[in-house]
Amino acid sequence: MTSIWELANPQLRQIAIYEPGKPIEETARELGVEPGAIIKLASNENPLGPSPKALQAMHAALENAHLYPDGSGFCLCKAVAAKLGLAPENIILGNGSNEALEFLGHAFLDATRQDEVIASAYAFVVYKLIATSFGVRMIEVPSPDYKQDLETMLEAVTQKTRLIFIPNPNNPTGTLISQRAIDSFMSRVSENIVVVFDEAYFEFLDDPPDTLRFVREGRNVIVLRTFSKIHGLAGLRIGYAVARPDVIEVLHRTRQPFNVNSIAQAGALAALEDDAHLRETKRVVDEGRAYLQEQFAGMQIRFVPAVANFVMVNVGDGCAVFKKLLRRKIIVRPLKGYGLPEWVRISVGTMEENKKLITALRELIRTQ
Ligand SMILES: Cc1ncc(COP(=O)(O)O)c(C=O)c1O
Repeated sequence: MTSIWELANPQLRQIAIYEPGKPIEETARELGVEPGAIIKLASNENPLGPSPKALQAMHAALENAHLYPDGSGFCLCKAVAAKLGLAPENIILGNGSNEALEFLGHAFLDATRQDEVIASAYAFVVYKLIATSFGVRMIEVPSPDYKQDLETMLEAVTQKTRLIFIPNPNNPTGTLISQRAIDSFMSRVSENIVVVFDEAYFEFLDDPPDTLRFVREGRNVIVLRTFSKIHGLAGLRIGYAVARPDVIEVLHRTRQPFNVNSIAQAGALAALEDDAHLRETKRVVDEGRAYLQEQFAGMQIRFVPAVANFVMVNVGDGCAVFKKLLRRKIIVRPLKGYGLPEWVRISVGTMEENKKLITALRELIRTQ
């Protein structure tokens, strides 16, 4: 029998299948315990769950599950646009912001032109997956002290550069690029390049940089946001891209007709208006992050100071600590796949979850 690799696109050989945070159900099965006994701090989800208003809207939307969703997401785009002070034509919905990243591959990347994309070392892994699956070269620039260096990114630009990916803050490092660095970068980057600001954690920031300004100014900038993080709807798969109307129109041509389901659209619309849930989530995360960082410092565990709902922590052997915490029913994220074998990423949970994590970590250190 011939190998399937004689038929499959050869660049796919270079892609490892994306490994998500270990699911609660799988862990519970393996440990022979109830799912409720497991603490998952592995995927930067909202520790409080979805907004009650979103839950109510989704229950109501189920009544119409026999109908196809609104393909263009008219109501949600209008509501998002109103929040951002832009027009609905500036917004496109994706099945998670990950799908919006895939639109970019379809829209802008061409292997026959030998296109290149640029991102920082340790940047969110999906950029590399997209570049590789579209058969283009990913240039990774060094990231000193786990910070993204926009100056080095500019130096890496060539005639072949199509996209520059800037996650802000980045996952998994958690570091933030300042408005000043962004402005300086934007004043020099070529208009022949599309700059992508991936702002999945935007709503957790106290003083977020303004990148929508570049969209308003008519620049080749795409801003990505998601309902998976502060809005607590990761399981629904819904996010969006913001750009000039002509850019959005190009992205619509790459989109499947009903890419975002009706339950997700209803949930997102209600979540967007639930300021109380958003504020409470930010409060819990701010408090939890401060607690975790204080405890890590006290235990002399190195961490990268964080601004979103996760902290990257140096535990010596990330995979070993991941496994030991699993046995204590806590799931964190080892970062070996990112080339960071000493580190794990820990999402901020409820205070009760955070305290259990710290107790478990202290035990591990004592018994090492
Ligand atoms: C930086 C960054 N961008 C994008 C995403 C994708 O989010 P989603 O596809 O759930 O909207 C994530 C999720 O972890 C992320 O950390």
